[in-house]
Parts: sequence; structure tokens; C-alpha cells
Amino acid sequence: MTANPGDEATPPTGRILRVACFGDVVGRPGILVLERRLREVREAFRLDFVIANAENAEDGSGVTPAIATKLLAAGVDVMTSGDHIPRRRAVFPILAKRDRLLRPANYPPEFPGGGVTVVDAGEGDDAVPIAVVNVLGRLFMNTTLDCPFRAVDGALAECADRARVILVDVHAEATSEKVALGWHLDGRVSAVFGTHTHVPTADERILPRGTAYVTDIGMTGPHHSVIGRKIEPVLRKMITQVPERFVVATDDARATGAIFSIDSGTGRAVAVHRIQVALEGPLPTLPEPLEPSAPAAADESSAPSAVEEAPAVPAAGEKS
Ligand SMILES: [Fe+2]
Repeated sequence: MTANPGDEATPPTGRILRVACFGDVVGRPGILVLERRLREVREAFRLDFVIANAENAEDGSGVTPAIATKLLAAGVDVMTSGDHIPRRRAVFPILAKRDRLLRPANYPPEFPGGGVTVVDAGEGDDAVPIAVVNVLGRLFMNTTLDCPFRAVDGALAECADRARVILVDVHAEATSEKVALGWHLDGRVSAVFGTHTHVPTADERILPRGTAYVTDIGMTGPHHSVIGRKIEPVLRKMITQVPERFVVATDDARATGAIFSIDSGTGRAVAVHRIQVALEGPLPTLPEPLEPSAPAAADESSAPSAVEEAPAVPAAGEKS
């Protein structure tokens, strides 16, 4: 992506891509909500590409080959991960392919797989290469990892000549570290979104040089829980300090994430919206158009009523 300070008002020059990113898929409920709703979501919001963090998909910890296959079949294009990816060695051969499943770029080079991939959105003449980068935070996590700032710089060097549209999953605990990485990457990538805490933040915005940013996009899993685990054992452990087994919860499965609208010509984001989809019921109605430009709004006339959009509003880049 190329961008210059102060020219964020430049009108879109390319096709607008809609990329949905879903936060940590937790256990069977997280997989189920994507299996049941993602195709419908892709169609209703006319998504071009879907990224999901598969970090907690296998019973809350790691991902297996069978689950990776399920998530791809559900409509996910690229899976990212994080601190739990070492838990299931069976998935290492899939990581080693370095295409649809990433591990954080700041793991040692000897760890299977890579932290960057480039995958086409669409096919044939309409295909647009999209780069996805995954990096792990160090604050309150694994302080022995390589520096995430340098690691993400290295990942961008790997993909910058292959893709203009670049999305970065910052899997981290500390909001400060995520915000800092957002500023580090502003004007260099299309979007930076955080994962890992399982709690979505309400700070979506477009930074001055055209990079969309959300500190955490939340969890795709059981929301009647303590960040995906059954409430009672977590409460008992926190109150008594007696060890408990934290079991993945089952109820109120929702897919939580964000939709980024990105100009494929410049690589800049033109809008960002948080989204949450329940296992059942109508799809959410967004408060603003998915894209601020008039042609895109006119093109929405045939969209399903469940996602009909409001009249034109100021561009997302003008949000504070
Ligand atoms: Fe995590």
C-alpha cells in the first residue's frame, strides 16, 4: 500500500474489496456459528474475503487439521492464530504449507509455517491478491518472542511486492501494544485488527494515513461464558484459588468481528464496521453504508433487506 500524509481524502481509484475478519473461534460453538451463518453473511454483505483467527478452535486451545478443513469449507479464506498454535502438533504440516493457516511471524524461524501469506480474492481477471500477516504481542504474554514491530516489518518486506491490500492480525493481550502497532503500520497496510482478548473494543477508525484499525474484534464462540469458558469453574477458581478445569461453554454462540472496505487500487481502507452474527435470527443492520462513495451506495439497491443500509453519512475516515 502506498499513502502520503494528509491525502487521506483521495477518492477511491480501484475496486472496493470487502474483507471480514472474525475474532478467535472458540471450540465447537465457534465452528458451528461459522458453518451455519458464514455463507449467508458472505452473500448478504457481498464479502470478497474472510479471515478468522482459529487459535482456540479445538476445544479452546489450538487447531487441528480436521477443524482447519471445516473452517475453510465454511467460507474462511485464511486462518490466523496466536499463542495456542503450538498445542496441536498434528496441524504443523498444514502450517508448513504457508498458505491458508498462519502462525505469528515472530515465532523462531525453526517453528513450522510462516506469519504471512498472499491469497487471491476472486478468480481470473477479477482476482485481487490479499496479503495476511499474523504477529503476536509480547506484553503480558511471551516475552521471549522476537520483537513484533521488527517481525511485522519483515513480513511486509516479504509480501509488499505481491499485494497492495494487506491485513494484519495482532494477537496480543495489551491494548497499548496493539495501538502502538496500529500507529507503526499506519499508511503501510490496509487494516490492523487485534485478537486474543475475546472482548471486542469500540475504537474502530481509520488512521490518518489510511489504515483501518480496531484494538480487538472479539470472539467467535459461546458468549454466555467467561471469554469462552463455562462461568462456574472460572468463578470458583478466581474466588477460591483451587485449581479447576476450564471447559468450553456452549450457549449463545456468536461470530464477532469487523468488515473492512478497502480500495484495491490504493490499498487504503475507506470504511470499517464492527459486526456480530448470532447462531440464529436476522443478520445485523449496519448503522452506516459499507462504503461512503455514491456509486457503491447505489449498487446496494438489491441487497437483502436484513442488511439494508442507512442514507449516506460522512466517510468512515472522518470518524473520531
Ligand atoms: Fe490467544
